[in-house]
Amino acid sequence: MSEPAPTRRLYIKTHGCQMNVYDSERMADVLRPLGYAMTERPEDADLVVLNTCHIREKATEKVYSELGYIKQMKLARQAAGQSMTIAVAGCVAQAEGKEIMHRQPAVDLVIGPQAYHQLPELIARTHRAKGERLSADFAPQAKFDRLGSDRNPSGVTAFLTIQEGCDKFCTFCVVPYTRGAEFSRPMDAVLAEARSLAGQGVREVTLLGQNVNAYGGEGGLAGLVRKLAQIEGLDRIRYTTSHPADMDEALIEAHGEVEALMPYLHLPVQAGSDKVLRAMNRAHTAESYLRLVEKIRAARPDMAMAGDFIVGFPGEREQDFEATLQLVAEVGYAGAFSFKYSRRPGTPAANLPDQVAEEVKEERLARLNALLDEQQSAFNASQAGRTLPVLFERAGRHPGQLSGRSPYLQAVHVSAPDHLIGQIVPVRIESAAKMSLAGALALEVA
Ligand code: 5AD
Ligand code: SF4
Repeated sequence: MSEPAPTRRLYIKTHGCQMNVYDSERMADVLRPLGYAMTERPEDADLVVLNTCHIREKATEKVYSELGYIKQMKLARQAAGQSMTIAVAGCVAQAEGKEIMHRQPAVDLVIGPQAYHQLPELIARTHRAKGERLSADFAPQAKFDRLGSDRNPSGVTAFLTIQEGCDKFCTFCVVPYTRGAEFSRPMDAVLAEARSLAGQGVREVTLLGQNVNAYGGEGGLAGLVRKLAQIEGLDRIRYTTSHPADMDEALIEAHGEVEALMPYLHLPVQAGSDKVLRAMNRAHTAESYLRLVEKIRAARPDMAMAGDFIVGFPGEREQDFEATLQLVAEVGYAGAFSFKYSRRPGTPAANLPDQVAEEVKEERLARLNALLDEQQSAFNASQAGRTLPVLFERAGRHPGQLSGRSPYLQAVHVSAPDHLIGQIVPVRIESAAKMSLAGALALEVA
């Protein structure tokens, strides 16, 4: 496909999860044929897109304060006889579209996550008549059909969204409201996109979905993984984020059998107290989660586990929190994301009595993080002396150094020549820090 030479500049600021990172890439993809090329400098941009996240408190206020800055840049450009179109995308756009247009008149366009394929058309319309607003209630099917399978990956790893939305309704979470019902992309479309990526040198894909293991295409996520593993050049497959309730036998089996499926699993548990888990509507207990982890490790003994945790959910007592610490101690996590509970208006938990005081949340978060940090450091340290296959992704921070990933998603820094970018190479791990490993090429590579 021939594309026009870039004539306009696009700046995208991405907040939140990897699904937003993927969406931002796809927005850049659909805008490229219109002559938009990325810039790192918003003040130079003809089009600024804020891709927003709504998952925790103050997200909305942050958007308004960012819009305040961008408005100043727009005014400066207008004073210089240039223009700037401002678009707000993502979950805040979905949740607060009208309000944003009302509160910040400098915004030209508000666009929800299901409507990104319409960006080119909408931008053309805003150029003609200012103030066009998009309703965000498109079917996800249309989004994916219209985005197509052509990608323009920027490296040897790529995200690939296969599922959106969530039907789980955890009582703390806005996602079922902002991203809507679970929707899975047809397998053929996913495979076509993966082939396009592999054809452009991508060696590793991370399949994305709010509930990625609820993937509803034929054969479920396990079936998809097995098909992806057959694509020439695609040597590593990861997926995120999973719900314990959707971790079925077929998927666990695939972890034991499919070499390309990497031994790192992000499987949020949120809490270790059954009382809290029930109030969260998590559909699992601490015990059933632990049994599940056991099963997964029986299939794949070196599986590195990662999780999400919330401390200070309404009604959480000291002994409930200690049950979370106990569960963490039993699982042994290689990585984790932990959060203080934050009230999200419109979710059931926001109205629960017995909200936990901020200082208590702070204190619990610090204790949880101390344990998780210790586990992560211990996991990294346990790799010292091993030889691991590392996929080199990019130049490292120091000259002559490359940076890559181990199968367990650890960053690995190695002195190595540039031509090894995109290769999977054995590396002898020499030392470990909390966030990364350092090593040396295990073989002399010409
Ligand atoms: N408060 C705190 N953390 C939250 N998460 C989702 N909603 C909230 C909330 N209201 C966390 C969960 C989820 C992750 C993406 O964000 O741990 O797994
Ligand atoms: Fe939110 Fe729960 Fe759905 Fe995850 S599973 S997106 S935490 S409602």
